[in-house]
Amino acid sequence: MRIDNNKARFLKKYEERLKKVLIVGFISGIIICFLLGSLINRIRIGGLEKKYKEQITTLEDKNEQLSGELKSGSTQKGENQNSEILSSKEEGWALVLINESSPLDTEYRPELAEAVEGKFVDARIMPELSEMLEDAVGDGMQMYICSAYRDYESQWEVFNTTMVDWINQGKSPLEAYEETKKSVAVPGTSEHASGLALDIVSTKYGELDDKQAETEEARWLAENCWKYGFILRYPPEKSAITGIVFEPWHYRYVGKEAAKEIKEKDLTLEEYLSRQ
Ligand code: DAL
Ligand code: ZN
Repeated sequence: MRIDNNKARFLKKYEERLKKVLIVGFISGIIICFLLGSLINRIRIGGLEKKYKEQITTLEDKNEQLSGELKSGSTQKGENQNSEILSSKEEGWALVLINESSPLDTEYRPELAEAVEGKFVDARIMPELSEMLEDAVGDGMQMYICSAYRDYESQWEVFNTTMVDWINQGKSPLEAYEETKKSVAVPGTSEHASGLALDIVSTKYGELDDKQAETEEARWLAENCWKYGFILRYPPEKSAITGIVFEPWHYRYVGKEAAKEIKEKDLTLEEYLSRQ
């Protein structure tokens, strides 16, 4: 009987000790895990911070270099006279090439006319633009201009917003910059600053994605724009030439003669101009 009591006491003590050990072990485990997690995070964030800082410096250098070139009117590919040609009364203003290798002076300001409320274009393209929009409505199309003239600062806003979207999707600043410039021209290289480009979308589908191309309105524009001197500037399968992904909404005025040939021969503006 006495032996049994001793045994029971011993077992109870043992049980209590075991409980204590388990509780202390469990709490220590949590603390160690937490400390380790924080340490790993610190190391990871420290590494990323360093990497991102370097990337941001690279981007700032790129931007400074581009701004310098735009101000002096010269690019790595030589002198650029886009703003002079655009400002001139001579023929040829509508054929100015604006892309990454052929930027536009950031000071350039076209003479603007209001195409629809709050959306401006180069006044010289108004007659053909109005005619195109009226004929589209006449054919039962429902579309609207979602973007037209954008100055240098507005282009920065669009560029930065898109870049932040990419960063939020997990891209590093440099990756986000590279992704962004496939769909938004680097400020200083956008046709929107010339007043000759505009984005037109279907009222039934306002998204700026590939599905826009399937709307009746996008089909109508792609088929008929040349009659009014416009081209689909960033066609599918040609992004290696234009540097920009397929944009079924972006139309550029080039004049009727060029637009007809570009449409007939399925060219980009880059290809058309290199043949002249
Ligand atoms: N989305 C066109 C390429 C632009 O930003 O000019
Ligand atoms: Zn556009």
